[in-house]
Amino acid sequence: MISKLITAPKKYYITTPIYYVSGKMHLGHSYTTIAADIFARYYRMQGSDVFYLTGTDEHGLKIQQAAESKGLTPKQFVDDLANQAKDVWKLLDISYDGFIRTTDPHHEKFVQEIVKKMFDKGDIYLGEYEGWYCKGCESYFTEKEIQNGKCPMGHEVFKEKEKAYFFKLSKYQEWLLKYIEEHPEFIQPQSRKNEMLSFIKQGLDDLCVSRQSVSWGIKLPMDDKSTVYVWLDALFNYYSGLQGKEQYWPPDLQLMGKEIFRFHTIYWPIFLKSMDMELPITEFAHGWWVVEGQKMSKSFGNMIYPDEFIKKYDLDTYRYYLFREVSFGDDGSFSNKTLIERINNELVATLGNLFSRVLTLASKREKTFVYHKDDLAEKVDQKIIEIHKAYQEINLTKVVGEIFEICYLANKYVQENQLWVTVKENPELFDKQIYVLLETLRIIAVELSPIMTKKYKVMFEQLGLDINNKEHYLLEFSKTMEGKIVKKGEYLFVKKE
Ligand code: MSP
Repeated sequence: MISKLITAPKKYYITTPIYYVSGKMHLGHSYTTIAADIFARYYRMQGSDVFYLTGTDEHGLKIQQAAESKGLTPKQFVDDLANQAKDVWKLLDISYDGFIRTTDPHHEKFVQEIVKKMFDKGDIYLGEYEGWYCKGCESYFTEKEIQNGKCPMGHEVFKEKEKAYFFKLSKYQEWLLKYIEEHPEFIQPQSRKNEMLSFIKQGLDDLCVSRQSVSWGIKLPMDDKSTVYVWLDALFNYYSGLQGKEQYWPPDLQLMGKEIFRFHTIYWPIFLKSMDMELPITEFAHGWWVVEGQKMSKSFGNMIYPDEFIKKYDLDTYRYYLFREVSFGDDGSFSNKTLIERINNELVATLGNLFSRVLTLASKREKTFVYHKDDLAEKVDQKIIEIHKAYQEINLTKVVGEIFEICYLANKYVQENQLWVTVKENPELFDKQIYVLLETLRIIAVELSPIMTKKYKVMFEQLGLDINNKEHYLLEFSKTMEGKIVKKGEYLFVKKE
């Protein structure tokens, strides 16, 4: 059943970056992947036809070298790591529909076709390249960008010279500026849009899109001694990953970290324009996580790995904390202190306590309840609309915040109406008010279902709802809770020291 309060898009195609298979997936990778998962689950629940694509970026010098250092062929090396990535996503309950690997034969073939078309069209031409190359970033940098022999990310760079093919970025500069101006939804958030615009306005140099020095890559169709520049290869995963499901094109939302925004807001739209392909609706960059105020790095020994976190706490706490703690789009710091505070004050004292209180009260009557609507119900409907808007604004922190606002409203309602008194003194009134509360709890559980993919099932069970019944997910204050047999069960969350 579809809510009358909100309208969801008919189809919804969402992507994450495809991650390098250079090591274990950490907090940063899981952040984007969970974010996309929340959107995918939310829109699916609203009846949208969703396609969620993620995957792995498996070509390039870094991978070639990492495989060599382990005595493996690149293919053996990437197979193993791609499987590891899938295992982590399974653990995190990621509901992706497609998983693309850039070593998939159909992807390699597709990229070759693209490059050939760009060449035939004259957008790719032969020239010579000399510049500063960074292995870490798989990217050349200009003289301006190098500081003390290091790239902007702080890696060492090397001078390299080679016969090379170039893509005519400059040809599309004016077109891109105009496109961005006419499509305000294309680059979000606004703060990062300005950075991208000023980069384009400085002037776009043509981009070197072939590599002689890298053998682990897709062969250039016009010169099989060179391979395709990894970013030209990688970006087209978003199309090749659809594999027979091209009806989902273009992406509605592409999520990523801020450090790769430039590739997605400048190169990517230009490549697509060159191919006469439709552009994605929105490119959104979120910020970067640090840990206790410090850059996350293996050498500092402060890496956060989701599998380890989950062993210590639980999956839902992880998925919740990431979007509650840091405003989506901004940089943020992971801290044990705020984590414990969020668990104890919000998950235990607000959400868990609300469920336990209301269900205990309801059980006292040993009966089921009939529909009733009042002020709280009106407010809940309003919140459903707010939450939907927050999704449309790509503001997951607001989504989580608004859900918690519903919990606060409900707790206040119990308090103000003194339900523990009316249950004895005015049972008729109590039955009406408890219906409003139970229906509110149902809506909280439904709104939490894209985020807390495990705990919401416990909430459903306690409320006598069926996770397989689509009607029970209706986002609207309704009669759904009529006649449901609720039961007070285990505490949803436990206090942590
Ligand atoms: N392979 C490229 C992307 C190609 S997309 C066509 C790549 N891979 S990556 O493995 O380095 O992943 C980068 C992504 O991981 C970031 O864009 C971001 O989504 C996520 N993060 C990695 N570290 C992060 C943080 N510390 N904080 C938040 N997210 C970060 O770049």
